[in-house]
Amino acid sequence: MSGQPRPGRSCPFAYRYGAGALAAPAQLRADTLWVVGGLYGNSCALQRVLADFDAEPGDKKLVFNGDFHWFDVDPEEFAAIERGVSAHEATRGNIEAELARPAQGAGCGCAYPEWVGDETVEHSNRIIERLRETAQAFPSAQQRLAALPMFLVAEIGGLRVGVVHGDADSLAGWGFSQEVLATAEGLRAAERTLDAAGVQVFASSHSCLPVLQSFAGNRALINNGAAGMPNFARTRYGLATRISVTPSAAALYRLPLGAVVVEAIAIAYDADAWTARFLRQWPAGSDAHASYYARIADGPGYRLEQAVRPTGDFARIAA
Ligand SMILES: [Fe+2]
Repeated sequence: MSGQPRPGRSCPFAYRYGAGALAAPAQLRADTLWVVGGLYGNSCALQRVLADFDAEPGDKKLVFNGDFHWFDVDPEEFAAIERGVSAHEATRGNIEAELARPAQGAGCGCAYPEWVGDETVEHSNRIIERLRETAQAFPSAQQRLAALPMFLVAEIGGLRVGVVHGDADSLAGWGFSQEVLATAEGLRAAERTLDAAGVQVFASSHSCLPVLQSFAGNRALINNGAAGMPNFARTRYGLATRISVTPSAAALYRLPLGAVVVEAIAIAYDADAWTARFLRQWPAGSDAHASYYARIADGPGYRLEQAVRPTGDFARIAA
């Protein structure tokens, strides 16, 4: 293999920070934190997130942890996503990084692993080109996106939470994907990054499927999959992460960590309205339609039971 970057496969050097960078004082504190990753330009999901968060009582913060743009190639849709997201905390995803400051040879910046097929990678590289054309009409948005941090540390009920897009080392890392966390080696590596970052919880996104993995020492990793796409077979809702001193009656699953709960909550957006908006921007035959329409219509081949993984799984896999 040559040393040349492969568009959509390589991880740009600028995306790397290392878990030790998170071993820093918390930048935000609240009793409740929502982490909303992978909105993917779904303006119906954005409306639902903002309405549901508005109804959340008490001292609260919302972080959009990257990839809030993607399907929103219509300028009005792009502007709507910008307006909604910029009212809250946000960190950069690889999509925002590539919109703001394209890295040479990065393509979509997804750093797709080998288990993702070449066709999907090629579709994504062409989607980012279309989206870049839209973003060029919004120079102030591009500047804002370029200035967003790649991660942040929050303190919720005394518990340190590392909010990242990919994994503990890189903006587009796949170390917190359900696939890597299904291996003993992946679990050990993730546990080491909890140590290195000095956090009890990592909240991530990027790899598109959700997982809530418990670790020894009252620690956990939660990946919300996508807020703007279905995450489970035969469903049509997105997911967000909620970390709070008070449990939510609406949580789909949760893990208590001392005085704090780590939860997955449904983002029950208007799926028919979103499907119409998606098809208007990405009709049959388009790149996004080829890669995503089946999932938007009927969910991925993944079940809720597969996402919830107690600490005991580590022993089972390692055995
Ligand atoms: Fe991503």
